Amino acid sequence: MTSEKFEINLGKSYPDIRKLSQDDFIRFWENQAKSLKWFKPWDTTLNWNPPFAKWFEGGLLNASYNALDIHQTEKSDKIAIFWEGEDASQRSISYAELFIQVKKFANVLKSLGIKKGDRVTIYLPMVPELVISMLGCARIGAIHTVVFSGFSSTSLRDRVEDSESKIVITADGGFRKGKIIKLKDIVDEAVSEVKSIEHVIVFERVKGKITLNEKDHLWSELMKHASDQCEAEELESTHPLYILYTSGTTGKPKGVLHGTGGYLTHLHSTYKWAFDIQDSDIYFCTADIGWVTGHSYVVYGPLLHGATQIMYEGAPDYPDISRMWNIIQKYKATIFYTTPTALRMFMKFGDEKPNSFDLSTLRLLGTVGEPINPEVWKWYFNVIGKKRCPIIDTWWQTETGGMMISSLPGIESNFLKPGSATQPVPGVSISVVDEDGKEVPANTKGSLIIENPWPGMLMTLWNDDEKYKDVYWSKFENKYYPGDYAICDSDGYFWLLGRSDDVLKVAGHRIGTAELESSLVSHDYVAESAVCSIPDEIKGESIIAFVVLNDGIEITQEKIVNELRNTVRNSVGAIAIPQEFYIVSKLPKTRSGKIMRRLLKAIANKEKVGDVSTLEDGAAVTEVQSAFDEIQKSINISDR
Ligand code: WTA
Repeated sequence: MTSEKFEINLGKSYPDIRKLSQDDFIRFWENQAKSLKWFKPWDTTLNWNPPFAKWFEGGLLNASYNALDIHQTEKSDKIAIFWEGEDASQRSISYAELFIQVKKFANVLKSLGIKKGDRVTIYLPMVPELVISMLGCARIGAIHTVVFSGFSSTSLRDRVEDSESKIVITADGGFRKGKIIKLKDIVDEAVSEVKSIEHVIVFERVKGKITLNEKDHLWSELMKHASDQCEAEELESTHPLYILYTSGTTGKPKGVLHGTGGYLTHLHSTYKWAFDIQDSDIYFCTADIGWVTGHSYVVYGPLLHGATQIMYEGAPDYPDISRMWNIIQKYKATIFYTTPTALRMFMKFGDEKPNSFDLSTLRLLGTVGEPINPEVWKWYFNVIGKKRCPIIDTWWQTETGGMMISSLPGIESNFLKPGSATQPVPGVSISVVDEDGKEVPANTKGSLIIENPWPGMLMTLWNDDEKYKDVYWSKFENKYYPGDYAICDSDGYFWLLGRSDDVLKVAGHRIGTAELESSLVSHDYVAESAVCSIPDEIKGESIIAFVVLNDGIEITQEKIVNELRNTVRNSVGAIAIPQEFYIVSKLPKTRSGKIMRRLLKAIANKEKVGDVSTLEDGAAVTEVQSAFDEIQKSINISDR
């Protein structure tokens, strides 16, 4: 923890907002919800039947109506999206045009038999059609489930099957670092045998050669014949808007289910408070829509406010490390919201690159997804923001729907501390507690908990109320447990200290240890495996894997590791490939047979191993230790 404080005077102070939110959080959120357009007001602001919350019960609204229809009088010509392709192609899409496209696409979905409550999987690269698809679903009450287009066909199939989607929307291909990823081929592999799938829609992004199967339709053909008249469905506030799968502590990803009225209220407020959004702003969030940041702060947050944003298709360092600075200069971006991993990568290349671009239009900077180290924070503040721009470090999760801890330039001038996400947003109460759920004194590490329900909270896990209760609400009674360690300092500022469960955070992406281990074990060579993380200069954490091979495998270590890398690439996705593999003959286990990951992590992080009295076989620790030392030696020799 650093004691440095940065004063940024924004000339804003609305103490009433905090006061009201502390006095009565339900009434507070009720007032916030009035900023949305409702077809019918709600009867009950919060129906709390722990741990199930129904926000704005009885109210009727529509997400796409709030994102599009309401802007058609004053903002129809305003640009909603400046889209920049990785190949530098450009599109500028106004609110009027987006509105037409969404209505047409909603009609396409209807013509293919999609009805309220049906699930639609979207597996698209970062193209405007991804936004159009999501809003098209929302318009008719279909539940979208976006799958990050970097995921493998197995991951895609699991998600399509679990959500029982009727349609997959994809593209012929997507650009990534100049290469074409053949998304349609991945979809074919994933869904050809999934019974629920009735249609596949293919957007022609790369215009490559594809084979159209019986269920396949070209986006352009379907849109050509679609009418641009489509009223938004009047949906219950608790109607599910989307499912977004995220990794947890078990092998199977969890389908986080978000509703409509509460979720949109949370986003409308936090987007305004955190970004202090103005009509003239050009907002640039680098998140892929396949993750929650893209759902909340690329799609719904900005569109609810009629903001103009930049959407970039490709890799942040393609064709070179200046791409982001180039885009900021070109479109005169005023707000930049990115990840600590990206910043660490940019920082490594020095100040010269960003200094050679005109970044003077920037007025606000943000980060999300992982803790930001104070050195990087200061670099961001000094070199990118030129000491003028406040930095908002926003802590939240797929499950929380929107920001929960962040400084809020839109409503108050608080001081900033590099590395601290600062304070909870109004209407949200957060504490740090010990194992018994008792609040710990200031400056003491404990588990973060959220005290009360909040509007953006997940409604449940798709088809799994029991798991929802168990994962988030069973550790501390009726308090939400996000799975993060934290400290609250004597100024009431929160410092996030990483996950307390078996979830890894690599480059800001959540990867479940169990999911990865089951992928490794699925390979014929592997009897057992355990993965953990070690600190990484750029990605925050990187993954290392310990594997025990089946008897009689006589193949070179190099070949085994190559195969295992491919297995992970094909079953989870490239982001989950471990950086290093350690082949050992046994893993440290308790007498009841549970792998002691704590020990592996300690060894890998060169920390003290601690108590090993519960171990079944102490020799395993020695072996893991020496395997680790051996590989470290060879890494040092080759000077990685
Ligand atoms: C971590 C991303 C420190 C945290 C929006 C959380 C952070 C998990 C921050 C959720 C931050 C997110 N500082 N850690 N500002 N933001 N995290 O669901 O561990 O992909 O529980 O949502 O990311 O990851 P998710």
